[in-house]
Amino acid sequence: MIRIAVANQKGGVGKTTSAINLATALAATGQRVLLIDLDPQGNASTGLGIGANQRHRSSYDVLVGNTTVSDAVVNTPIPRLDVLPATVDLSGAEIELVELEARTHRLHKALEVAPADWDIVLIDCPPSLGLLTMNAMVAADSLLVPLQCEFFALEGLSQLLSTVERIRARFNPSLSILGVALTMYDRRNRLTEQVSKDVRAVLGQVVFDTVIPRNVRLSEAPSHGLPALIYDHRCSGSEAYIALTRELLARLPRQREAA
Ligand SMILES: Nc1ncnc2c1ncn2[C@@H]1O[C@H](COP(=O)(O)OP(=O)(O)OP(=O)(O)O)[C@@H](O)[C@H]1O
Ligand SMILES: [Mg+2]
Repeated sequence: MIRIAVANQKGGVGKTTSAINLATALAATGQRVLLIDLDPQGNASTGLGIGANQRHRSSYDVLVGNTTVSDAVVNTPIPRLDVLPATVDLSGAEIELVELEARTHRLHKALEVAPADWDIVLIDCPPSLGLLTMNAMVAADSLLVPLQCEFFALEGLSQLLSTVERIRARFNPSLSILGVALTMYDRRNRLTEQVSKDVRAVLGQVVFDTVIPRNVRLSEAPSHGLPALIYDHRCSGSEAYIALTRELLARLPRQREAA
């Protein structure tokens, strides 16, 4: 089971859009995928059509120890894609977790005892570097960082990377950066081009070749409760996420064949 946290403390950079569409594309390639919604906004759950009435148990319940991952998981209409949904309860978790034992390892421990029902687990993080994101980073093997091509993109990144360093030093030495994905790319915008050049110059190979274009279909899809890949699989955004999925799979350690 490979665990990838989709993280960036900056809001609205495409974490959830990336998590939903990568999860969908990975499932389409035959991987059994679990998407963990670790954001109190619950956008990943909503974007996959999981209504409030289907969120009997949530990622909050798993973190505080009310339930197990298996008991809280909801199937989506997409074959091989399951979701551990989020509810607004999660907004209290940052504070409640402080009181609990092993507060940074709650998700890690819950996944350790979960059955091996999934090949890949994607964790959609909230826009902060608080305890929820720390739980994701402790539980994860690697990070996928969506980065919006705008002026302050790199500035936020150094803060994220120093958090990764701290997590490595204290809790999870093997945490790696799987890749940085440039999102909301607008070829007509010179700033976008410049930022993307700068980011590649500074970060090099870790930046995926694939860029996710700014594409209105990607932003429309969640209101239909569908991944863009299902809503309109031929739009430029969907095609980009398919290409990104190929790159991502190529970077993953080769999975053991099922016995
Ligand atoms: N490539 C894109 N083109 C156009 N719109 C996009 C694209 N990616 C994301 N969006 C839209 O931008 C907004 C923010 O995207 P998203 O929710 O994926 O970001 P996020 O990083 O998860 O945000 P938050 O930090 O609030 O969780 C959403 O309305 C989404 O539909
Ligand atoms: Mg989000």
